[in-house]
Amino acid sequence: MHIGIIGTGYVGLVTGACFAEFGIFVTCVDKDEKKIKSLKKGIVPFYEPGLEALVQRNTKEGRLNFTTKIADTIDSSLVIFIAVGTPPRGDGSADLKYVEEVAREIAINLDSYKVIVTKSTVPVGTGNRIKEIISRNLKKKVDFDIVSNPEFLREGSAIEDFMRPNRVIIGADPESNSGQQAIAIIKDLYKPLYLIETPFVITDIKTSELIKYASNSFLATKISFINEIANLCEKVGADVHMVAKGMGLDQRIGPKFLHPGPGFGGSCLPKDIKALLKVSEDYGVQMGIVEAVVRANERQRETMAIKIKDVMGILKGRTIAVLGLSFKPNTNDLRDAPSLHIIRSLLKEKAKIRAYDPVSMKDAESILPEVKYCKDPYDAVKGADALVIVTEWNQFRNLDLAKVKSLLKEPLFFDLRNIYDPQRLRGKGFRYFCVGRV
Ligand SMILES: NC(=O)c1ccc[n+]([C@@H]2O[C@H](COP(=O)([O-])OP(=O)(O)OC[C@H]3O[C@@H](n4cnc5c(N)ncnc54)[C@H](O)[C@@H]3O)[C@@H](O)[C@H]2O)c1
Repeated sequence: MHIGIIGTGYVGLVTGACFAEFGIFVTCVDKDEKKIKSLKKGIVPFYEPGLEALVQRNTKEGRLNFTTKIADTIDSSLVIFIAVGTPPRGDGSADLKYVEEVAREIAINLDSYKVIVTKSTVPVGTGNRIKEIISRNLKKKVDFDIVSNPEFLREGSAIEDFMRPNRVIIGADPESNSGQQAIAIIKDLYKPLYLIETPFVITDIKTSELIKYASNSFLATKISFINEIANLCEKVGADVHMVAKGMGLDQRIGPKFLHPGPGFGGSCLPKDIKALLKVSEDYGVQMGIVEAVVRANERQRETMAIKIKDVMGILKGRTIAVLGLSFKPNTNDLRDAPSLHIIRSLLKEKAKIRAYDPVSMKDAESILPEVKYCKDPYDAVKGADALVIVTEWNQFRNLDLAKVKSLLKEPLFFDLRNIYDPQRLRGKGFRYFCVGRV
């Protein structure tokens, strides 16, 4: 089978490379010529472990192609995935301009039956909207089906998540014959996942669209909940890790996403919960829990900056070493990263920042030009008044603490991801501060 993926970013490229690995012939399209040029040479323009090797192998074996020409791709594909961005607008709603642009381009090039699948995260009702746009812009009468197939991969472990997902959601019109046909085609694409007994949830398009937003909002709620518990733990002298362990052993709660820290960030959770709120507002449904999560997350980032200011006092002229900039380890993605909020808050107080991140410094330079970017963690702490770990990259878990202490002007250690043991750090002479443990 031949398929086309429109939009070759984190989701589109992982989807394309993984389907190619499943033995399907895939063409990935992007309007960004530089990106396509680089991918044709086997260079992945962002950091995702294992992806470059997968892209190179499947390109070499002839199953994966890259182009900027959408027309040829539509012509040769039975299934077309839309995987373009849906960034937030000022009011929090998802901006569908890229999705709609692609829908129009598909319509004008459609001349035989296709299944058009939304992989992008889109608000409830977008499937219908795409159907309308395509129907309105068709050049001749052609049948097509719309399917919603939201993506749940996590940057940093995207290939594993795509190849071994917890579930695959397929939203179509299960009542109609044509909807049944589209479901069968998409299930066929995912056939290798049957061997590992992946659950498939087959539903209607609106329900499928909402599953994605409900899932991300629930994950965000878990993070914000444990962050608030962590803040209380600090005040009462309890240990948030033991609280999380005690809670997580209850199978109704589960242990995942109960790790306290500086708040969630990235390209998905912050924008998706705001988009869900906008949809709920449009339909007159109050979602007080989700509203509270947005506020709790903003507060958590600020709480981290306040924690540093409270200990250090006046920041003017002081230097702070920040380790980790990407919103989580194993990605270079800086979208809505807690590091950006915390650094901006410290810069406002006239602190000087020396930062190190294994992969995201090049991207960070244009966003935060005031920061001095360093060659490794030790270079960052050299002469600094404090060290702040914001992202828990593995290489920060085993720092040479004696060296760090000797390079710092003051042994001040803020571990916003709780990767070190407080007793051990204090035993080594650091003034150590973390989240939810005293
Ligand atoms: N990044 C994630 O971890 C993740 C996970 C699950 C779902 N999603 C969702 O998937 C979607 C894509 O996210 P992403 O992170 O891959 O975005 P991205 O910004 O990395 O990639 C989007 C790509 O689409 C391309 N594009 C835009 N308009 C186009 C057009 N008309 N024709 C061809 N290409 C076009 C852009 O050039 C860009 O390369 C979003 O809706 C996002 O919410 C993302």
